[in-house]
Amino acid sequence: MKPRSLPHQPALQAEVVAGLNLQPAGCYLDATFGRGGHTAAILAALGPQGRLLALDRDPAAAQWARERFSDDPRFTFVQSAFGRLAGVVAEQGLMGRLDGVLFDLGVSSPQFDDPARGFSFSKDGPLDMRMNPDTGMSAAQWLARVEEAELARVLAEWGEERFHRRVARAVVAARQRTPITTTAQLAVLIAAAVPTREPGQHPATRTFQAIRIAVNDELGELRAALPPAVDALAPGGRLAVISFHSLEDRMVKRFMRDQARGREWPLDLPIPGEPEGMTLRLIGRALRPGVAERAANPRARSAVLRVAERLP
Ligand SMILES: C[S@@+](CC[C@H](N)C(=O)[O-])C[C@H]1O[C@@H](n2cnc3c(N)ncnc32)[C@H](O)[C@@H]1O
Repeated sequence: MKPRSLPHQPALQAEVVAGLNLQPAGCYLDATFGRGGHTAAILAALGPQGRLLALDRDPAAAQWARERFSDDPRFTFVQSAFGRLAGVVAEQGLMGRLDGVLFDLGVSSPQFDDPARGFSFSKDGPLDMRMNPDTGMSAAQWLARVEEAELARVLAEWGEERFHRRVARAVVAARQRTPITTTAQLAVLIAAAVPTREPGQHPATRTFQAIRIAVNDELGELRAALPPAVDALAPGGRLAVISFHSLEDRMVKRFMRDQARGREWPLDLPIPGEPEGMTLRLIGRALRPGVAERAANPRARSAVLRVAERLP
């Protein structure tokens, strides 16, 4: 498959492959399969003994995995939220045996670009935003029930929306007149509520991000997945996480730092002994896409990759 034909351009692909330190006979987990861009790069580096388990909560990703990858005997796909990572990895008999775990967080391009999924304010569609539309509450259902104060908090914390109170008030006023069921309806009412404009950014950007994070419990999922991801690694196994906004990146950074107790080992130094209470050592610094990748794939521009290694 040529990279250009992929419906989702994987971010920081070369950096992920290098960061995972792929071994041909190694066993890996891609916790966010999407359309398999990173999966394909990992499989290309594995030999016949290698193995790759992939997860995604989205049924469309599951279908893509079945159609494109099911003839590769090294590959197993499980449709699951990665918040259930511990159970899935244990069911596969892989706890403590993985040589690498990858998280490429957020939504995929096919999710974002399909108006029927309701993630985008630029195309009208049902206000859904669920990564797995078969479970949980849609954004429309959530917006119909959420209290004004809670909505304002979500917009402030998860969207960093300066005008969170105004937007929350406008949503509550609008839903008393008529249910908010489409992305265009929501985008129009936010645009009217936000008094200023940020250059190059639609006024609904922050609110849509915040609602998406709430509807998919994105931060709760990540919080639940990071500790078992470390438990799932064999000594020397690598944890690689790509985040796309500061809330996720802060969580990943703090988690890795806490597990490594604030020490950064230079790449080429051996670990001196087995430090008690430490589970990870940090590998290098946070990586961001270079100029060429940002130009070729503008959606990757906010990506940040952090890598850490499981201590013995
Ligand atoms: C940025 S895309 C990954 C793209 C993928 N690396 C590729 O190269 O095609 C993120 C994917 O993670 C999935 N995802 C996000 N949060 C998830 C969660 N908590 N559990 C399982 N899958 C999740 C989304 O459904 C989406 O398909």
